[in-house]
Amino acid sequence: EKGGWSSFMAKEVSEEPEAVANTVRGRIHDGVVQIPELDGLDEMFLGINRIVVVACGTAAYAAMVGKYALEQWTRIPVDVELAHEFRYRDPVIGPDTLIVSISQSGETMDTLMAVKYAASRGAKTLSICNTQGATIPRESDAIVYTHAGPEVAVASTKAFVAQITALYLLALHVARLRGSLTAAEIAVNAHELEAIPAKISEILATEQTHIEQFAHWMADTRSVLFLGRHVGYPIALEGALKLKEITYIHAEGFAAGELKHGPIALIEPGQPVFVIVPSPRESAELQKKVVSNIQEIRARGARIIAVAEAGDAAVLPYADEVLRIPLAAPLFEPLLAVVPLHIFAMGLANAKGLDVDQPRNLAKSVTVE
Ligand code: BG6
Repeated sequence: EKGGWSSFMAKEVSEEPEAVANTVRGRIHDGVVQIPELDGLDEMFLGINRIVVVACGTAAYAAMVGKYALEQWTRIPVDVELAHEFRYRDPVIGPDTLIVSISQSGETMDTLMAVKYAASRGAKTLSICNTQGATIPRESDAIVYTHAGPEVAVASTKAFVAQITALYLLALHVARLRGSLTAAEIAVNAHELEAIPAKISEILATEQTHIEQFAHWMADTRSVLFLGRHVGYPIALEGALKLKEITYIHAEGFAAGELKHGPIALIEPGQPVFVIVPSPRESAELQKKVVSNIQEIRARGARIIAVAEAGDAAVLPYADEVLRIPLAAPLFEPLLAVVPLHIFAMGLANAKGLDVDQPRNLAKSVTVE
């Protein structure tokens, strides 16, 4: 039920704080991360030397974000691969590989076939899924459910933040088992995760109206670019995907460092470019690099929309618009930076009078290959 909301998507974006909080619940106790569903699987996590995350669409961008945390915290090499590409290239996998699949519905055929293929090659399989009892978790050795609640709008929003949350919990669970982080380091990250729901609520309370007005004002835009670096890169991809899915506007996401190797040729006067800016207080070096990317494209006439930490004064001289997010440690910024992009895409679709819940040509769950 939509309740009082104008669309399921509006309701689901408003539920992003609970999606994270409910996914965390019962899995962190006084800074110790332990996922009860993974009890009895310690040997599996101790026996692997490689992780491959497979997913499609928005779930694949959650996977890309998760790679940074999984590698940094567990020191296990992680690859992310689109599920439909994975099994057609004779991948190097075996009993010491863990395949982590991510799927909101748990029914996406491309992802299911990748999991079955991996299992047939002797790999271990773990499913991150939002739907109890769905096919992909049933086919997997281990399950970590996201507790975002049912997601009805075709374009995924609250499931995305829940998927990143589940990946981070998984990474901290494995880091504890393998001793790759100290208990104190795990506790610091666990507390960062526990603080995220209130920070998302703050964005919804203080920025939503502003972003919706801005989106209305942008309604005639024909092309939007998104730039990000490090964990901001998959968020740029997600921002562009959401815009394509529900507004039908041409949108592309790029890694900010790649700009000078090609995409900068696209910049002409008036081109709107969203830039996910890392926090100067938490990642000063990265922030400087991104600000210099902003200067390069601004000099060529780009209109800069910065998604930046509220206290970041350095972007102000270069940004035509600033969408503010609260401060978070670098790996946790994606859980905040994506929220303004979800609101923007939805606001723009509404401004164009489009059906945000049922975009043309798309299905919520694609059960054919
Ligand atoms: C697409 C949906 O078909 O499948 C996307 O339109 C979704 O919103 C993608 O991200 C993957 O779906 P799932 O259920 O496997 O997460």
